[in-house]
Amino acid sequence: MDSNFILEFKDVTKQFPGVLALKDVSFEVRRGEIHGICGENGAGKSTLMKILSGVYPHGTYEGKIIFDGEELKLGESSIREASEKGIAIVYQELTLVPTMSVGENVFLGREPVEGQTINWNKLYADTKQILSNYGLNVSPQEIIKNLGVGKMQMVEIAKALSEDAKVLILDEPTSALSEAEVEKLMDILKTLKAHGITCLYITHKLEEFFRITDRITVMRDGKVVVTEPTENLSVEKLVRHMVGREMKERFPKGKRKPGEVVFEVNDLLALDPNDASHKVLNGVNFNVRRGEILGIAGLMGSGRTELVMTLFGEYGKIVNGKIMLEGKEIKPQSAREAIDAGLSLVPEDRKGFGLVLIQSILKNISLAHLNQFSGFLRIDADAELKASLKQAKSLTIKTSSFEALVETLSGGNQQKVVISKWLLSNPVVLIMDDPTRGIDVGAKYEIYKLMNDLAEKGVAIIMISSELQEVLGMSDRIMVMCRGRSAGVLPVQEASEERIMSLATGISS
Ligand SMILES: Nc1ncnc2c1ncn2[C@@H]1O[C@H](COP(=O)(O)OP(=O)(O)OP(=O)(O)O)[C@@H](O)[C@H]1O
Ligand SMILES: [Mg+2]
Repeated sequence: MDSNFILEFKDVTKQFPGVLALKDVSFEVRRGEIHGICGENGAGKSTLMKILSGVYPHGTYEGKIIFDGEELKLGESSIREASEKGIAIVYQELTLVPTMSVGENVFLGREPVEGQTINWNKLYADTKQILSNYGLNVSPQEIIKNLGVGKMQMVEIAKALSEDAKVLILDEPTSALSEAEVEKLMDILKTLKAHGITCLYITHKLEEFFRITDRITVMRDGKVVVTEPTENLSVEKLVRHMVGREMKERFPKGKRKPGEVVFEVNDLLALDPNDASHKVLNGVNFNVRRGEILGIAGLMGSGRTELVMTLFGEYGKIVNGKIMLEGKEIKPQSAREAIDAGLSLVPEDRKGFGLVLIQSILKNISLAHLNQFSGFLRIDADAELKASLKQAKSLTIKTSSFEALVETLSGGNQQKVVISKWLLSNPVVLIMDDPTRGIDVGAKYEIYKLMNDLAEKGVAIIMISSELQEVLGMSDRIMVMCRGRSAGVLPVQEASEERIMSLATGISS
């Protein structure tokens, strides 16, 4: 036994029907290190973490895992067992119960009891202790659904840590966090490291590896490519290991020639439908040309997603302003009406109204546009299949079959299905809300190419993004939002990260 290592993976292999998710995975994790795990969508990262945390018990995979000097053999109630042994996981998708309090969630299923009843005082006191140990600023009594995504993520971590974890697994913890929240998380990880906790960290935001990890393991197609000290690596080297080839540019050059204005929003003012005293949009002005990509930047909570939902008739109550599409005013009362008018949306939340997880990939892609494929009274199955397949292939969705259920796809591949689905609809205006969140570099490039193709065909594209690099790399013009209003619209030639940030934070206007 080498006590330097808290974890040793030895030839771990995991087969799903038709998919070899992991093939002879071997590497070691040092005690107390922050170990990054990096790889394209479908590389096998989450599957490996699910084996470690007991979602797939001993016997459902081949090979061995040595944990703290002993072979890990998790049985039937293996998730419980793993956490009792000190292996804690924060999953890629949030798993909290929204209607319960922070404390109830942290101790869900193992509430402290006194005789027959739950000892609520102890539950809340213990929760408070855990939260303050790690500098998490959340009230134990707060109901989960009242918290922002960032705080929810903190609660997930508190929950994971409430059982004296030795190893903490974080599977893409920052994909929904704002920059300030990411900063906070990095601080928490440093605190954990100081407490001697080992951390396994997965992310698609490659820069984060360099802020926090000691070593990185790169995976590709279910195999380990390398494990290296972070200081020997760079973003370029990581990308090369991940995709197995050189990638010279992150953003493909388009030959876009923006034409006349097709979509216009003037002086839009909208109220929170549940609280009329709150203006969610307070003076939004912009237009988009045919064949143009307009980027929308802004901090979390600046009103970007609220704008989209309002344009789709799904959220804000419009009290002033006009929405003009191809010269005519439109007033969509629902997403259906907006789509019929010629708007299309790649939504931010893929689980919410993006996908039907228990249907096949093909069905999901064609679902939004059945009328496009329906002949006289019946759906033209062949045409549907062909168009959907073409779309799925162009985004390199990694799956054994396009008949597979969406829930069996890796997180990033699910997002590609959402995008495929909406790209098929031939819209006048395509709105994309954070389209590449959780997507690996190779597939991002494919999505950018698709955006260029669509714009060259004359589609006006509005792209909301939290990644400034992406906004600067792909847009013709950039609208910056701040507190529900458009703080400025910049041609990309005049834009820079600093200029965008100063508009977004309200420092300049
Ligand atoms: N329950 C399942 N049934 C069938 N196939 C699965 C299942 N879970 C995962 N897979 C497949 O195993 C492979 C690895 O998936 P995994 O979720 O581990 O990828 P990942 O590296 O976490 O990707 P991402 O970055 O997109 O989250 C993928 O091809 C995926 O489709
Ligand atoms: Mg994953």
